[in-house]
Amino acid sequence: MNTAIILAAGRGTRMNAGRNKQYLILKNKPILAHSIGIFQKCNLIDEIIVVINQDEEANCRINVIEKYQFNKVKKLVPGGDERQHSVYNGLMHVNSECDIVLVHDGARPLVTHDVIERCINELRSCEAVSCGMPIKDTVKIIDENRNVRVTPMRDSVWITQTPQAFKLEILLKAHNHALEEKIICTDDAMLVEQLGINVRMVEGDYENIKITTPDDLIMAESILNYKRKFRK
Ligand code: CTP
Ligand code: MG
Repeated sequence: MNTAIILAAGRGTRMNAGRNKQYLILKNKPILAHSIGIFQKCNLIDEIIVVINQDEEANCRINVIEKYQFNKVKKLVPGGDERQHSVYNGLMHVNSECDIVLVHDGARPLVTHDVIERCINELRSCEAVSCGMPIKDTVKIIDENRNVRVTPMRDSVWITQTPQAFKLEILLKAHNHALEEKIICTDDAMLVEQLGINVRMVEGDYENIKITTPDDLIMAESILNYKRKFRK
């Protein structure tokens, strides 16, 4: 059984909208409704757990889950202080039949069925997968004075996106290890890397952006307009 944990328990500070960016409207629908909708439609996903802020539960239930009839959403789970804690809370509620878990940022409303499929397929030959894309710009590793220390070869640098997909037991082990060692990581793949387990990258999509700052919302709207006009 394949479970998707969709994260919506941030505060959206960098978006500066005065409320959680997940509920901002993108082309007539809350950002979170776009993200959940793609997993709802995907035949490879059996169950969805949405991690939310407790004070936003009614809003999420009425304006997202019920309004768009997301019947694969089995639970709304309260998040934690860090993204990692929110994922952990979600993991504590997956169905007992679950063996593959995908973690996705609710703030990535432009993910596609193809990306989800690539992640799940790749897991047949490894334990942990992240989608991502080759970087377009050259990256510089700098020190505290902004002096350049290293310029990594561009073809070995990828940006990471979500979903990231895992065998459930591996992700649980990685989270428990991080709890014991008091490690905080910015993504789940990094937690698995800490165990010494290989994480494989698969191709995401340059359009699978994370809505982080106001300009991302403009970008997402343009991508959706373009998709509607030229691809459907
Ligand atoms: N997230 C979460 N729980 C947290 C922090 C983040 O579920 N404690 C979720 C966010 O809702 C988002 C995803 O993780 O879907 C990626 O995080 P980010 O883009 O950083 O969102 P926010 O933390 O909400 O934004 P900011 O960092 O600007 O406050
Ligand atoms: Mg954040």
